[in-house]
Amino acid sequence: MMQSHNDTTAKSGDPVAVLGQRIQQALAQVLGPEYADADPLVRPAQNKAFGDFQSNAAMGLGKKAGRQPRQLAQEIVDALDAGDLCEPPAIAGPGFINITIRPEALNAMLADMDQEHLGVEPLDRGHLVAVDMVGVNIAKAMHVGHLRSSIIGDSVCRILARLGYEPLPQNHLGDWGLQIGMLIDYVMQEQIDLDSLTLPDLEVAYRESNRRCKENPEALERAKARLVLLQQEQPAEIDAWHKVTRITLDACYEACDLMDLTLTRDHERGESFYRERLKPVVDALLERGIAEESEGAIIVRFPSENPSSDASGEDDEIDEEQSPLVIQKSDAGYLYATTDLAGIRYRVGELGAERLIYVVDARQRDHFKKVFTAAGMAGWDVLPGRDDSERKAELIHVAFGAVCGKDGKPLKTREGENVKLMDLLQEAVRRAQAIVQEKNPDLSDQEKAEVARAVGIGCVKYADLSSQLGKDYVFDWDRMLAFEGNTGAYLQNQYVRIRSIGRKAPDDVNPAAPFCIEKPHEKDLALTLLRYPTMLAGVGRTLEVNKLCQYLFDLAQTYSAFYTECPVLKAESPALRDARLRLCNLTAAVLADGLHLLGIRTLERM
Ligand code: ARG
Repeated sequence: MMQSHNDTTAKSGDPVAVLGQRIQQALAQVLGPEYADADPLVRPAQNKAFGDFQSNAAMGLGKKAGRQPRQLAQEIVDALDAGDLCEPPAIAGPGFINITIRPEALNAMLADMDQEHLGVEPLDRGHLVAVDMVGVNIAKAMHVGHLRSSIIGDSVCRILARLGYEPLPQNHLGDWGLQIGMLIDYVMQEQIDLDSLTLPDLEVAYRESNRRCKENPEALERAKARLVLLQQEQPAEIDAWHKVTRITLDACYEACDLMDLTLTRDHERGESFYRERLKPVVDALLERGIAEESEGAIIVRFPSENPSSDASGEDDEIDEEQSPLVIQKSDAGYLYATTDLAGIRYRVGELGAERLIYVVDARQRDHFKKVFTAAGMAGWDVLPGRDDSERKAELIHVAFGAVCGKDGKPLKTREGENVKLMDLLQEAVRRAQAIVQEKNPDLSDQEKAEVARAVGIGCVKYADLSSQLGKDYVFDWDRMLAFEGNTGAYLQNQYVRIRSIGRKAPDDVNPAAPFCIEKPHEKDLALTLLRYPTMLAGVGRTLEVNKLCQYLFDLAQTYSAFYTECPVLKAESPALRDARLRLCNLTAAVLADGLHLLGIRTLERM
């Protein structure tokens, strides 16, 4: 990442942040004002027996300031003004400061968090982020390869919106170029009626058009001529092109709807959108000497990153990095990269997006690396109209790995074809339906259908979002649909269970009863809840949606342990009952918020 945006801050309810600030004040007192923003290194305690948190600052700073670390730790503790937050800290080992939060402080922080925003402080308006996602190609049904771009992209948009950014989804459709020329020429030649064509018919036509052009040079010439007519915006070609686009996208939106994506038609920014912007890209790069002619083509060369020879044996990679980027072919045609360069110019220069996020297959890593570098060389990542004219947009490729079958190879049908996304999603719902039927036969048919959809789609999404981004993962129906373990169904079910306690509670419960954290399991739950805003801000920066999944799983498990140890409805006193109910409600609210940010539905019964 080119620039970190540390502008999303957690509210005052985060113990790590609050303790950190107090320790910084102490550091400034002990070591001088230049230490006021030294990292206080506050972490959850490694051993809970010694406290809730520890600060490891004295070791590093001791060395830097020429002070004995244990002595420095003692001076920090003496200067620390945090009696309202914690017990007097203890010093251990070479200079760890062990901190135990006072129950009253936890109660107050929880009360602070227990509002609609759940402690998440949104940014001021006006932080635009372009999120490149979905990116289907015309005349092809969405296949499993589009799953990740869709659901990771959607979750990224939801999380960024929650943090106060304004996400601008960009559906970078493959809707321009020779492939389209071939297809349109074929359907026009064959006088195929596009008004009644379905996507499967269109796919057949597409394959056939490809085959013909491969076998027959005349057909290829005709396709090229057709493309020229399309590029000249001739009415008949434009009409056919519109129709094939609509057939493709209408089917695409069916899958998007089933996945509950927030993406709509308004977010279509296909390759065709940039067609008038391609020549200016090439001209501008030539004019500035960034691009040059080579064997009739126009290319951008990159200065070698690391001229000294590399001893790691990864020469291949280095060679690839240095290979030039072709932006215009010798037949004058433009390329995928040219369009992406025009896209950066548009997103930064015209939209004013300060972050450009590309949720695209990891196999395109090299492509994006080169495109980003070339855009940087041209200064197209510099944001317009800002006071500091050097302010650069952040260009990020969120590279995801493949969805694999149990054989570890990219998932295919038995016939060796790409698995259609719609088939996969419908199978998920069918399988969930069978599970619901077995687990809860008493639900009405309508409820069963609702649960099956939420659980089936939720599980597919969760399995995908919770796996590490850049890595491949194995698609395993049984594991992803399990009700125990790190799955979407487990989290949905935990939510249902927490909510059912609330429904069983008597009428005289005080929903605003003061929190009352005493027992270790209550404290664990409280500390886990209080991590939410900071965790979310971190995900907003790094875009590691799997960290949000991990957090929610931790929360659900911590809640489980609490619920086993601490009776809620049968608590010793009404005050304690109400306090614990409020803790349950806050847990449910955080779970629901987090699941919503993953694009996973919650249910009241399942
Ligand atoms: N249509 C492309 C493909 O199927 C994905 C588009 C990704 N986005 C982009 N700006 N290049 O590979």
